[in-house]
Amino acid sequence: MSVLVSGGAGYIGSHACVELLQAGYEIIAADNFYNASPEALRRVEQITGKKVPFVKADMTDKAQVEAIFEAHPDIDCVIQFAAYKAVGESVQKPVEYYYNNLNCTLVILDVMRRHGCYNFIFSSSATVYGDPASVPITEEFPVGATTNPYGTTKAFTERILTDLCKAEPRMNVALLRYFNPIGAHPSGLIGEDPNGIPNNLVPYIAKVAVGKLKEVHVFGNDYPTPDGTGVRDYIHVVDLAKGHVAALKKLETKPGLFICNLGTGHGYSVLDVIHAFEKACGKKLPYVVDPRRPGDIAECWADPSKAKRELGWQAEYGIEEMCRDSWNWQSKNPDGYNS
Ligand code: WQD
Repeated sequence: MSVLVSGGAGYIGSHACVELLQAGYEIIAADNFYNASPEALRRVEQITGKKVPFVKADMTDKAQVEAIFEAHPDIDCVIQFAAYKAVGESVQKPVEYYYNNLNCTLVILDVMRRHGCYNFIFSSSATVYGDPASVPITEEFPVGATTNPYGTTKAFTERILTDLCKAEPRMNVALLRYFNPIGAHPSGLIGEDPNGIPNNLVPYIAKVAVGKLKEVHVFGNDYPTPDGTGVRDYIHVVDLAKGHVAALKKLETKPGLFICNLGTGHGYSVLDVIHAFEKACGKKLPYVVDPRRPGDIAECWADPSKAKRELGWQAEYGIEEMCRDSWNWQSKNPDGYNS
């Protein structure tokens, strides 16, 4: 089976490339390097000892996507990671977010059908659940009450794919709803390399630990949670990447539409994560408490039982390994791929 990994040089895409190659799949990675580095793919080659066939392409450009399928007629599945992903920026630039994120998927789907390719894995997010009525969150929870355009692009794309599965019985689609991916490959060769000041908690903590930022800003300590700070289901990016290999195997059974949470089922607070990271890096990390960040919810964690039941997949790494590997990556690459 040959798999097109769109957004293959990005944070999750590059880790997925490693796991797919190690599981014996043939891949073609595509990326426009808008928010990723070609160095990530060289490092994937270094980790796996395999060549990564690669195309520089913008997935919203039909001619470029056509060219990929023409050059690789054996592609029988697409894993679609290519997207803009900054929540705050999406509020400022909704047109850019809807245009890019919806069109990446629409263009690929349009080209796929002309080439007889009917298997698709979509990088969705727990953000489609909005503020859940309770935790843990199962796949049956309502979706769509999103709080920002980024999240809405995920919910809209899920809807498009759901409609497509109804109209085209040959189509097999996995909607994978990620919780909070963190960590890095244990080799320290690939990891998350955000542009500018990180928006997400763990990349921010990592920059404080490496001395690039002064202190962690804790967004609110008055939530109805055990220590008052927000609780999330952090998942090691390598576990998440392995979830895609499991989903690919699931698609081989022709399930039609398959929807699944990828999380650990455990919630950790902001302070839990800071303390786990302190252990990993061996130093005290200064933090200050700021007001709540608009749009944040108190707590969010997965019921991961469907993934275990139907994919035979469950997360193996805990918060210690996530922080260990994030620190290993950050300390070896203090300026990311430009180090
Ligand atoms: C986690 C917790 C913050 C930064 C978002 C998207 C989601 C997915 C992952 C990806 C919260 C707190 C954060 C900081 C803090 N998207 N926090 N100080 O908001 O759960 O999820 O990223 O591409 O779709 O919504 O993740 O890491 O930003 O925040 O206190 O500097 O850390 O309030 O409780 P979030 P996060």
